[in-house]
Amino acid sequence: MKKLGVFTSGGDAPGMNAAVRAVVRGALYRGVKVEGIMRGYTGMITGEFKPMEASSVSNIIQRGGTIIKTSRSEEFMLPAGREKAVQMLKQAGIEGLVAIGGDGTFHGAHALWEEHAIPIIGVPGTIDNDLYGTDYTIGYDTAINTALDAIDKIRDTADSHERLFFVEVMGRNSGAIALDVAVAGGAEAVVIPEAAQNAEGIARILQYATNRGKTSMIFVIAEGADCGDANSLANEVKELTGREFKVTVLGYIQRGGGPTAEDRVLASKLGIAAVDALLAGETDKMAGQVSGQVVLTPLPLTWQKRKPLDMSLLEMLTILSS
Ligand code: F6P
Repeated sequence: MKKLGVFTSGGDAPGMNAAVRAVVRGALYRGVKVEGIMRGYTGMITGEFKPMEASSVSNIIQRGGTIIKTSRSEEFMLPAGREKAVQMLKQAGIEGLVAIGGDGTFHGAHALWEEHAIPIIGVPGTIDNDLYGTDYTIGYDTAINTALDAIDKIRDTADSHERLFFVEVMGRNSGAIALDVAVAGGAEAVVIPEAAQNAEGIARILQYATNRGKTSMIFVIAEGADCGDANSLANEVKELTGREFKVTVLGYIQRGGGPTAEDRVLASKLGIAAVDALLAGETDKMAGQVSGQVVLTPLPLTWQKRKPLDMSLLEMLTILSS
């Protein structure tokens, strides 16, 4: 392989830049040229490629976002879009790809391999930590620390005004962020898609905590929880109990900011591992880290197998908030 392409796709995640840097420098070190594909699959279709030198990735390891931009491309979801992308890759002499992103990115990557035999390795870059085949995804550690920092600040108001708060965090269909942040933030309860909960359940927890003399409380709500978003849940609980929950939706703040050391190291390790895997003839796999070791997992398994959450944390939360 003489030239590979690297791209970031889907939601940006802190540490994507560190991963791009590792792919570029890892490939150049092995004597392989690299093109940065701008805006993920969107730029692959339009042929927006940028030759990358070692200096192209200077001074980015500490930066959030992604210098090669990202997008969610609807056109690429169709075979005609992928056809166009492949023509562009061939014209540019790109023989293999490293795809940095989450499950949407990996669906596209798998289709490229299946339909066009373009060798491709995925690197898990998403704040959601919802991919099977890696203990952590790049961006997760930074995102939970950002959310935690926000919760610590909200606690000051909760405590001073003796208020109740719902803090809604991201994670799409996964409760990973919510669960870790709830435990680390000393929350009274957490609502996640993986465990059934409703307004009546929240009202019971509220009553129990009130009986024990608690006057301020923080409940963490995962955006994917099936009992609805934090605002509608707050309305339902108010109707049931007459008590008001203030709502803070953390939103995109969780995707921003410089990556933690943990995310930078993980990104560096997996970026280089992805290049080495491609050069060793591997394809259609994700380079992840399990128990400290780099592991390659077939791309379809990364979204088909559900990554188990540590549900013992739920019980722990009950003990810790008692
Ligand atoms: O996958 C990362 C993520 O931030 C999810 O947590 C969230 O559900 C989604 O992306 C939001 O996507 P968008 O950037 O398209 O609004």
